[in-house]
Amino acid sequence: MENNQAENRKAKHTMEMLMMVIALTLVTVIAASLLGVTDMFTREPIRQAQRAMLHRSLEQVLPAHVNSPIDDKLVWHAAGQNMPVYLARDARGQVTAFAWEAVAPDGYSGSIRILIGILPSGGIHAIRITDHQETPGLGDGIVHNKPWLDFFVGKTLDNTRWAVKKDGGNFDQFTGATITPRAVVKAVRKGLEFFKTNRTKLLKMAAHLDIQSEKGKLPS
Ligand SMILES: Cc1cc2nc3c(=O)[nH]c(=O)nc-3n(C[C@H](O)[C@H](O)[C@H](O)COP(=O)(O)O)c2cc1C
Repeated sequence: MENNQAENRKAKHTMEMLMMVIALTLVTVIAASLLGVTDMFTREPIRQAQRAMLHRSLEQVLPAHVNSPIDDKLVWHAAGQNMPVYLARDARGQVTAFAWEAVAPDGYSGSIRILIGILPSGGIHAIRITDHQETPGLGDGIVHNKPWLDFFVGKTLDNTRWAVKKDGGNFDQFTGATITPRAVVKAVRKGLEFFKTNRTKLLKMAAHLDIQSEKGKLPS
């Protein structure tokens, strides 16, 4: 009799455990499926939104062009990284400007991404900030302070002292916020140095891309 009761209790316990395992498995499967479905539906809209944002920024840092810079790009390989370099071209297919994203690693709150548009002569056409975590009202002047952004236009390595005024350079710092503009100025200067070193190669690569796209055209 007692043996029967003990066996019944054991069987009940085993059944409860089994039900718990089944319930947990079901919850896990449902949660994973929901995550998968959410990812499926959001991935493409997110990609489209990022592309639209990049397109808007490219239009702001490049001169007028007849091509689609977001698609007309070469890929620069350096230090294990692939960096897209976007091109602006005139009606003859000549490159009129290059644009790429530089990263300033030393912002007040981490990295700042900067889209730099530069002319083949080595002068800045324009810059725009594409990502940052700087403090609203302090460091985020790098996004909203148009005169500060416009000060970069036409600047070259030779015609400018590439530092904030506090450090003896030509660029304004912001009131109570020197770290952010200092980081941006330094990253843009490095971008200009990169361009100066690699200008010939970049122009060659861009010309080759153009030849390839000409070859890719089907005879009409
Ligand atoms: C809460 C807080 C947020 C700050 N955010 C920024 C910022 O986004 N960018 C920045 O350059 N400085 C920021 N600062 C100020 C810096 O700590 C630093 O004092 C300043 O950049 C130095 O500039 P100054 O020499 O012109 O005072 C912040 C300070 C505090 C307390």
